[in-house]
Amino acid sequence: MEKIIILDSGSQVTQLIGRRLRELNVYCEIYPFNKIPVLDESVKGVILSGSPCSVRDYNAPQIKLEGIKGKYPLLGICYGAQYLAYKFGGNVEGSLAREYGRAILDVRKADSPLLKGVSARSQVWMSHGDTISKLPDGAEVIASTQDVEYAAFHICGEETYAVQFHPEVFHSVEGTKILGNFALGICGCKGDWTPASFIETTVEELKKTIGDDKVVLGLSGGVDSTVAGVLLNKAIGHNLTCIFVNNGLLRKNEYEDVLESYKDMGLNVIGADASKEFLSELAGVTDPETKRKIIGRLFVETFDKYARQIEGAHWLGQGTIYPDVIESAGIEGIASKIKSHHNVGGLPERMHLKVVEPLRMLFKDEVRRVGRALGIKEDLIGRHPFPGPSLAIRIIGDITEEKLRVLREADDIYIKALRNYDCTGMNFPSASDPRIMATNLYDAVWQAGVILLPIKSVGVMGDERTYENPVALRAVVSTDAMTADWFHFPYDFLEKVSNDIINKVKGVNRVCYDISSKPPATIEWE
Ligand code: XMP
Repeated sequence: MEKIIILDSGSQVTQLIGRRLRELNVYCEIYPFNKIPVLDESVKGVILSGSPCSVRDYNAPQIKLEGIKGKYPLLGICYGAQYLAYKFGGNVEGSLAREYGRAILDVRKADSPLLKGVSARSQVWMSHGDTISKLPDGAEVIASTQDVEYAAFHICGEETYAVQFHPEVFHSVEGTKILGNFALGICGCKGDWTPASFIETTVEELKKTIGDDKVVLGLSGGVDSTVAGVLLNKAIGHNLTCIFVNNGLLRKNEYEDVLESYKDMGLNVIGADASKEFLSELAGVTDPETKRKIIGRLFVETFDKYARQIEGAHWLGQGTIYPDVIESAGIEGIASKIKSHHNVGGLPERMHLKVVEPLRMLFKDEVRRVGRALGIKEDLIGRHPFPGPSLAIRIIGDITEEKLRVLREADDIYIKALRNYDCTGMNFPSASDPRIMATNLYDAVWQAGVILLPIKSVGVMGDERTYENPVALRAVVSTDAMTADWFHFPYDFLEKVSNDIINKVKGVNRVCYDISSKPPATIEWE
């Protein structure tokens, strides 16, 4: 399979380069700058990312380009461009002012293959403290901005290009076109990496790897595990057994509804109801981290207990996705850190199973596209993320059956109201696909939930005074949960939800809306 290799020097936005290429149906892989993989004939080109470092720093990433420059098409972005200048006969200096923000690119060589079809004056995004003051040997400038003479250049006689701006970020209006010119034009990629081709090759690979062995997979009701399950099912059919654990902390009717929809999808799924064990071990526990630890341990024990009953299972399927796998390029040497999957940490070792992760090379939006191509229903594909510890971390303080009842009722009203609010024409982008507009608020919001607060306040209902708990509504927009902003709801929506919750949920007499962004707050309250 043809691919582009992206060498990461530690920029915050390296993953965006990958996502833009994938949008163009070009397959790519990201590696730390000092872990260059073996380049075989499937590699069609190489991209050097940006970096928080200056090329003049003593600890600046040193990229070994001997086997790459002049041999493969090469594109340097920001630090990557400055590195090419600095190492190959040019010069880079600290500029007096940081070049940061929007700039207008003046195309100076319209017939350059990198800039084919780009408007004569195109908005780009700059973010660097240094600037190239002399081009490398044999290079020609192909575009400038008002402040940056060498905004883009080409080293003549080879397919080496460089841009000091960031084509991968949204604010570079024709950035995807420039990346497309590189990948599809200069590198000659076919652009045939589609969800359908991914499914075809992955199913073949899974068949070959797993053969007649059996696989167990934990389903959570979320998009990743569901898509992983359906893919594995397509490859090995009933040799796949899925386990869906009820921890007693799920949303209203969620266990029954999700189990039913899995069965409808033809998955061989076992419901593992351990709610009693979870709730009894959590009784009286108030510390958030202790709650998480208890839930994590019980999940593993429950999963293990059910999985052991499946004779001959040698594999554990997991819904790990690419952002969990990419090694990040640490700047002081390499701090390679691979995040373990939230909910099943420690399981493979404990059960002596081999791990199969069919989605490990996909970004989240691609998992959704693959899910759609597999025919998974839209209400599963578009589901909000939900934390492993479930409602336990949305009840502040200790957990009781009564508190769970109150929270489930309020949450159910809120989530249904989000789904039922028609926001056509309000210009809210869809959280699961920002290229289209949302038609209801559930789709516009990235994640939403209700939090039950452990204080009581006075209210009045009819002739009676009440002394009950408040709930807080949370709704955020985000792309990766690392940062998030609160969602700007129409007032009439907030008004209706507040009335409905207070009128219908016994035990709640006040509704607040959480207007904190992350950072400094977090999405969950615990
Ligand atoms: P925070 O609250 O840290 O959450 O802003 C970021 C995202 O992670 C989810 N989350 C968790 N998911 N186990 C999980 O599987 C956890 O312990 C956990 N804590 C938070 C949260 O819902 C949000 O999507």
